Order: sequence, then C-alpha cells, then structure tokens
Amino acid sequence: MAAKAGGERVGYRKGYTVMSQASQKVLVTGGAGYIGSVLVGTLLTGGYQVRTIDNLSFGGESLLPHLGNPHFELVKGDITDSEAVRGALEGMDAVVHLAAVVGDPACAKQPELAVRVNKDASELLCQAAVEKRVKRFIFASTCSNYGKMPDHNGYVDETSLLRPVSLYAELKVGFENFLMAVRREGFSPVCLRFATAHGMSPRPRFDLTVNEFTRDLVTGRKLEVYGEQFWRPYCHTVDLSRACLMALEAEADRVAHRAFNVGDTGENYQKKTLVEMILAELPRVRNNVNYIHREEDPRDYRVNFHKIESALGFKSTRKVIDGIREYIFAIASGVIADPHDRRYSNL
Ligand SMILES: NC(=O)c1ccc[n+]([C@@H]2O[C@H](COP(=O)([O-])OP(=O)(O)OC[C@H]3O[C@@H](n4cnc5c(N)ncnc54)[C@H](O)[C@@H]3O)[C@@H](O)[C@H]2O)c1
Repeated sequence: MAAKAGGERVGYRKGYTVMSQASQKVLVTGGAGYIGSVLVGTLLTGGYQVRTIDNLSFGGESLLPHLGNPHFELVKGDITDSEAVRGALEGMDAVVHLAAVVGDPACAKQPELAVRVNKDASELLCQAAVEKRVKRFIFASTCSNYGKMPDHNGYVDETSLLRPVSLYAELKVGFENFLMAVRREGFSPVCLRFATAHGMSPRPRFDLTVNEFTRDLVTGRKLEVYGEQFWRPYCHTVDLSRACLMALEAEADRVAHRAFNVGDTGENYQKKTLVEMILAELPRVRNNVNYIHREEDPRDYRVNFHKIESALGFKSTRKVIDGIREYIFAIASGVIADPHDRRYSNL
C-alpha cells in the first residue's frame, strides 16, 4: 500500500484511495480471534493505527507480537459494555466488526449470550460509531446466511434469498438489515459475507471443517464425515483479511450499503472432495475415514463470488490445499503441540 509523506490522499489503484496512513485509525472488534489476529497483522503491516477491543475469551497470546508496537492498542473489554465500546471508538475512522459468539453450535449452546452480543451489542456498537462520526463500518457476516440452495446443482449470489437455518445466521441477517438501514452523511456500512475460513492464524481454530478434518487425519484419529455431498465455499484467513482491507480502502460509493460474498467461486467444495485432498497428502490414513450418508442437511450452499472481484478486484491468493498443508506441517512438526487443546475450539 503506497502513501506519500505529508498525508495527502494518494490513489494507488483504480477505484481506490489510500488515506494518509497516519490518520487511518481502525477499531477491530474481536482482534484476538482466528480471523481478527490475522487482520490486525495485515492492518499494521499496511501502516494503519489499530486498536482492538476483545474480551480475550480464548486468550490473548495471538496478539503478543503486537503488544510493543506503538501503532497497536489492546482494549481488554466486552462489547456488551457500552462505556468500554464508546471509549474504544474514540478517535477511530473505521470499524471492522468481528467480535461475536461464532458458529451455529456456539450460538445454539448459549442462545441468550448470542443475542446479547451478536444483536444487542452490535447495534449499540453501530449507533455509537455513528455518533462518533466513524466513516466506515465493515461487518463480518457469513455465507451461511444462504442456508440451503433451492437447487443443489446451482449457485447463490448476493441477489439470492437469505434462508438462515440457525440462530447464528438469523442474528447475522438481522444485523445486516439493521446496519444497511443506517443512513448518515459520510457513514459507509459494508457487509462482508465470509466463506467458511481455513488456514493458519495466531489463534488456530480446529472446529472448522478443513482444519478439523486435517487435524484428525494427521493425528491418526478416525474421521466420520456426515453428508459428504453437500457444498460449502472456503476462504483462507489471509484472504479474508485482505478483503477487509480492500473494503476499507475502496471508494465509498463502491461499497457503502452493499453486501459482498468473500471467497472464490473455484473454492466451493463438497466435503468428500476436501477429504480426498487431505488423503492425497496423507495416503496412509485412508482407512480412517468413514462416510455417513445423509440425504438432508439444512446447509448446502455453493456461492458465486463474482461481485467482489468485479467491484474491488478481490481474488483469493490461497487455496484450500494451502491451508491443508499449513496445518499438516504445523501439527506434524510440533509447532502446534496439542491441536486438541480446548482453546482452539469455540465449542
Ligand atoms: N471463521 C469462519 O469460518 C467465519 C465465517 C464467516 C463469518 N465469520 C465471522 O467472522 C468473525 C470472526 O470469526 P473468527 O472465526 O475469528 O471467530 P473467533 O471466535 O476466533 O473470534 C472472535 C473474537 O471475538 C472475541 N469476542 C467474542 N465475544 C466478545 C465480546 N462480547 N466482547 C469482546 N470480544 C468478544 C473473542 O474473544 C474472539 O477473540 C465473526 O463475526 C464470525 O461470525 C467467521
């Protein structure tokens, strides 16, 4: 990312402006998390001033490399605490909102907390951001908002009907609607519907399909795969972070009040294909896999990602096979000593 000294706006690619790096202050909620800790690094490398508010529910080791960085600030706080939120927003130009009770199982397990965080606190954060004259608000939504495709052989895109089939997705759709209805001069809200994440992070998660399948097979466990024929899109943590950066830097009229799927049309996979990709790397554990056929799964979505490519020039730089190899190496080499440690799971 290029910026001239002196702080004037500098166009660096068609359709983009880069504000003075010194004046771009971004609040990342949930910056200690799986995607957030990658994003914080991406933003710091890009020259941003980054503050994160996180209650450190899975620990804060993921942020250790940044603690001495004068461009980084950690607010240990909960987004349900309105005072902490207002304080964290002070002086910020933009917000990337990641903090949430994340995933269908976690929301099903703690439904009241999920509503408090994913709905009430998110609305409060948005209202406070508007009051504090934050210019851009990027919301980490999800492709699971699409639920089940009407046609198993088709694709869904941003014009498709949202059919949330879990509390998690219902709350994401609800907050998308809330955010998109906020109109204030100079306030640009953007919804990024992330594909299911995979790939390395300072806070690994092993409750996500690619990472979990890889971990189980590399550690010699038996793997039971339910509904091997159902589709899902996947995107690497590094690319999800790049998408946030591009949404921050795009001209407002390209992104404001819009939703974008984030991923790559070529990175939709059926679960069986994922397993075959892992087994090609680990052929000796082929007998450890057992497919349990299911005719019905409420979530079956194959997603088209053309819009973000044509509007922002976003393309994934890493594929699922890269994420698989990262985890095989990290576990086999002992870099992740105990991949079954509970702190690597949101369940
Ligand atoms: N991981 C995926 O596959 C995926 C896919 C689509 C969308 N998303 C969205 O991206 C965002 C980040 O997901 P992730 O995988 O990094 O999850 P994560 O659970 O690893 O990170 C969430 C972070 O938010 C923090 N947090 C949770 N509740 C908080 C609260 N009340 N106050 C302050 N901090 C709080 C947690 O401590 C954690 O550090 C979420 O909004 C999620 O819904 C993730």
